[in-house]
Amino acid sequence: MSKQLFSSMKLGRLDLPNRIIMAPMNRARCDAGRAPTDMVGEYYSQRASAGLLITEASSVSRLSQSRPNASAIYQDNQVEAWGRVAETVHAAGGRIFQQIYHLGRKSDPSRMPDGLLPVAPSAIAAKGEVAGLNGPVDFAVPRALETGEIPDVVEEFRLAARGAGKAGMDGIEIHGANAYLVDQFLKDKSNRRVDGYGGDVAARVRFLMEVTQAAIDELGADRVGVRISPHLSVDGIGDSDVAATFTHVAGALGSLGIAYLHLVEAVVPGTPQAPAVGSEPLLPGIRKAFPGAIIVNGGYDQAKAEAVVEAGLADAVAFVRLYISNPDLVDRFRLDAPLAEADAATTHGGGAKGYIDYPVLQPAAAGE
Ligand SMILES: Cc1cc2nc3c(=O)[nH]c(=O)nc-3n(C[C@H](O)[C@H](O)[C@H](O)COP(=O)(O)O)c2cc1C
Repeated sequence: MSKQLFSSMKLGRLDLPNRIIMAPMNRARCDAGRAPTDMVGEYYSQRASAGLLITEASSVSRLSQSRPNASAIYQDNQVEAWGRVAETVHAAGGRIFQQIYHLGRKSDPSRMPDGLLPVAPSAIAAKGEVAGLNGPVDFAVPRALETGEIPDVVEEFRLAARGAGKAGMDGIEIHGANAYLVDQFLKDKSNRRVDGYGGDVAARVRFLMEVTQAAIDELGADRVGVRISPHLSVDGIGDSDVAATFTHVAGALGSLGIAYLHLVEAVVPGTPQAPAVGSEPLLPGIRKAFPGAIIVNGGYDQAKAEAVVEAGLADAVAFVRLYISNPDLVDRFRLDAPLAEADAATTHGGGAKGYIDYPVLQPAAAGE
């Protein structure tokens, strides 16, 4: 097997030592103020040999509420705490981008402040339920954002990007995937607006373009990435012409000169966003439409990852579930060493167990 994954590459301003990326993963171990603890810094620094670490999704707004102990980055305590994480990762020789997001209609209604409703492009509820403060609750019918409010939400993303910059992050990734607010704007089943933010794809991509431009204004295009998941159609989200919509999105983002596009391909059973839907391969069209670096993700193992990079379809590959139990995934791939199994019970929430106690290869196995 060729070892393309271990070749260095340029990503925006960064030189990555390899093409193995740790994709964003919410482990719900922040404090009650939605700020990462020292243990979170330890967790990421254990994984610093990845070409790039992308943090767990971090909310840009108090109206974006998910499970307890999930991260946010709209207040000083959160920015300061993420600053300590960035410092720890850099001290370990790593590189780290902050993923920023807004849950929109996927916000937990029982955790919304002041009894407010979740907001969304249109007043259409996500299907299904969420864990809730006092037991499972249905997703709420959200309040459709007024046209005049949209700049305020764009501003929340801007301030989060500024906060991440202040925290010393190498850049930010806008979470445009997985049925959250940006994705709700992009896909026509959740966006029925008629005000220039909905309608044809040029209008549906406008919110993402404004958010991306705001982040670029704060950090520079070479420190901004965007994640999309074209095929994802859980919870009633979905698009009537996935290929046309997302080829357009890729081209529009390409014109902004961002550092990378992060493409979640077919959705993988066993992840929080399962199940997969039938997915025509979009990657070749997106590769053509987007001139910058492409990171792919979703169900990759080392062989598949080598193949997609070798074929020239992607520049790097992101892994999530393998990173739960293999902090030294780069070494294990390099040495064809066995991969450790993750303990599903400790994925979300809790303490050090199942978080920072997965061992690295022993020196004998690592050939030292
Ligand atoms: C526990 C867990 C938490 C996740 N949290 C996030 C997140 O915060 N942001 C995001 O964009 N995707 C999130 N995802 C989706 C993953 O980034 C990824 O797309 C998915 O796990 C498929 O990649 P894999 O096959 O390498 O695991 C999460 C997945 C898991 C399993």
